Amino acid sequence: MQIAITGGGGFLASMLVRHLLDNGVAGKPVTRIITIDLVPCPVVDARVESIVADVGDRDVLARAISAQTKAIVHLAAVVSGQAEADFDLGMRVNIDATRVLLEHIRALGTRPRFVFTSSVAAFGGKLPDRVQDDTRALPQSSYGVQKVIGELLVSDYTRKGYVDGITLRVPTISVRPGAPNKAASSFASGIIREPLAGVEAVCPVSAEMRMWLQSPDRAIHNLAHALALDGSLLGNDRTVNLPGLSVSVGTMIDALRIAAGDAVTRLIRFEPDPAIERIVASWPNDFDAVRAKALGFVADEDYVSIVRAHMARIGNASPLTQNPPA
Ligand SMILES: NC(=O)c1ccc[n+]([C@@H]2O[C@H](COP(=O)([O-])OP(=O)(O)OC[C@H]3O[C@@H](n4cnc5c(N)ncnc54)[C@H](O)[C@@H]3O)[C@@H](O)[C@H]2O)c1
Repeated sequence: MQIAITGGGGFLASMLVRHLLDNGVAGKPVTRIITIDLVPCPVVDARVESIVADVGDRDVLARAISAQTKAIVHLAAVVSGQAEADFDLGMRVNIDATRVLLEHIRALGTRPRFVFTSSVAAFGGKLPDRVQDDTRALPQSSYGVQKVIGELLVSDYTRKGYVDGITLRVPTISVRPGAPNKAASSFASGIIREPLAGVEAVCPVSAEMRMWLQSPDRAIHNLAHALALDGSLLGNDRTVNLPGLSVSVGTMIDALRIAAGDAVTRLIRFEPDPAIERIVASWPNDFDAVRAKALGFVADEDYVSIVRAHMARIGNASPLTQNPPA
């Protein structure tokens, strides 16, 4: 089975590439993965071809995605903070390139599975305490608007029979390994990741700020599930709110204390950033996600397990976590 992944040099894509090479899709081995990104895919494997290019480049798409491509996972994006700061770039990559990509696939006439990732930023304005599956999208940022336009394109290209699409509204991922990124939610990983590495973390929002979160492992599980899912189960409604955990920043820090001890949490400094606070506060922080659960998508058990899984991944590298409490 041949798969194309845009944004293949990014965080979720790199994890997904490894997962698909190891596990295949619905019991079928993945024989070839072609990634397109401005940066190379870090996974070195004979089955992976990493194309370093713009996802909106038609010649590149012609080279990367053919009638043999059974599925496309479209992860390339300008993320929230950057899309807000650079309106033109966000519009060009998040909308224009998505349309170019869908048009290229339409011309193939093969109706492959197309997985797109949207976000909690699709919602905003006056929201119920828990977002329901039919709560209307009312984004309050350029990124959110661009994601909703992507969702609608995926739905309409599916309705017309050009792709077999599914959009996952992915919760904020925490704990994301590596360096901070330009997402407004970057701190939701930084306040765990940096202290565990012995580095001070700045938290730009208050301890009361509540967020809708998912671990990287669950996100990858859910993306792989979306690749394998029978499209007829989705009917005409191709956008799915993924399950997640509703957690306050204070609870996240408590979980870090439970998993790694007090000294680590002292490396977190609160320094309000009104711009970030405004964006993050506009996002919903709790969902019912009834439909997603019925379709087999999953959430994490609790935030302490998320912190522990991150610590296991980095191998308890910080001197501050030599003897974390059990
Ligand atoms: N991580 C999260 O918390 C989260 C939550 C909801 C949705 N998402 C969505 O999931 C997807 C993957 O997220 P991520 O966290 O791995 O982000 P990421 O920033 O690590 O990856 C995105 C990749 O897109 C690439 N890219 C940007 N512009 C491009 C262009 N013009 N051409 C080709 N590649 C380009 C970047 O180089 C980057 O490697 C994104 O679409 C994001 O909006 C992420």
